[in-house]
Amino acid sequence: MSSEASVTHVDPTEARSAAVMLSVQGVGKRFGGLAALSDVSFTVHEGELVGLVGPNGAGKSTLFNIIAGVFAPSEGRILLEGRDITGLPSHKLARLGLARTFQLVTLFPDLSVLDNALQALHRHQQGRFFAGLFQARAYREESEGWRERAREALALLSLEALADQPAAALPLGQAKLLAVAIALATQPRVLLLDEPAAGLSHEESSRMMDLIAERVKGRCSVVLVEHNMRIVRRYCDRAVVLQFGRKIFEGAPADMVHERAVVDAYLGTGDGG
Ligand SMILES: Nc1ncnc2c1ncn2[C@@H]1O[C@H](COP(=O)(O)OP(=O)(O)OP(=O)(O)O)[C@@H](O)[C@H]1O
Ligand SMILES: [Mg+2]
Repeated sequence: MSSEASVTHVDPTEARSAAVMLSVQGVGKRFGGLAALSDVSFTVHEGELVGLVGPNGAGKSTLFNIIAGVFAPSEGRILLEGRDITGLPSHKLARLGLARTFQLVTLFPDLSVLDNALQALHRHQQGRFFAGLFQARAYREESEGWRERAREALALLSLEALADQPAAALPLGQAKLLAVAIALATQPRVLLLDEPAAGLSHEESSRMMDLIAERVKGRCSVVLVEHNMRIVRRYCDRAVVLQFGRKIFEGAPADMVHERAVVDAYLGTGDGG
């Protein structure tokens, strides 16, 4: 495929010398008697696109939610640029530079595409807004800056021509691109994406992933939760594979197929790509 060649992967030796943006250290999570995660560790470097992959029930969403501050781990720590963020609530994490998308796209259908992005930025900046309530002029000027930022984020995901359309008019593929643009507008240092291509046609899915690899990755580190091995192999710089809550592989996506445990985990699931 022609676009395959255009996806640039981070050289693993380069990645090792790059700054550590996110560090997951010995994370465990129990739900009652069930160990959903056990002693999972991995790091994400600056400029990397890391795929978090594994069969159903492996613990991907649980780990994603722990990193995103939805719930605290039973054991272990999460560091964002060296700072311990374990158990911090999502809105605090957002201000520290960790953004996420949701598997189900939540947009305001009656608002325009641009206003959806602006709305998210206002929410993101809410703490500062209240602090600056009596500085109306500064606030107005800042709002102009946000508009600019929102437009830039839309342009990155090739949505600028749709800025004035109501969000309800967007087909799923573009609604999902908008969700990524919204997360990007907050200028995160690390972006967590939960199966951004799920439910999309093959073509839409490739478009989404091309844009993430070519335009989003250059702006922040990306953690991609994905059960589709083909997508991870094609787009990710590194893969972390979970099974039954444990890390069974970490390394170059191309090497996943040589790892017996990974092959076994995916055998018969039909989505091994
Ligand atoms: N809130 C919860 N309460 C109890 N058990 C949970 C909870 N969330 C997840 N689990 C269990 O933890 C394990 C890991 O689930 P998780 O949703 O993290 O897997 P996953 O890798 O995201 O799977 P999928 O590919 O199906 O999305 C499963 O056995 C699941 O049933
Ligand atoms: Mg899941």
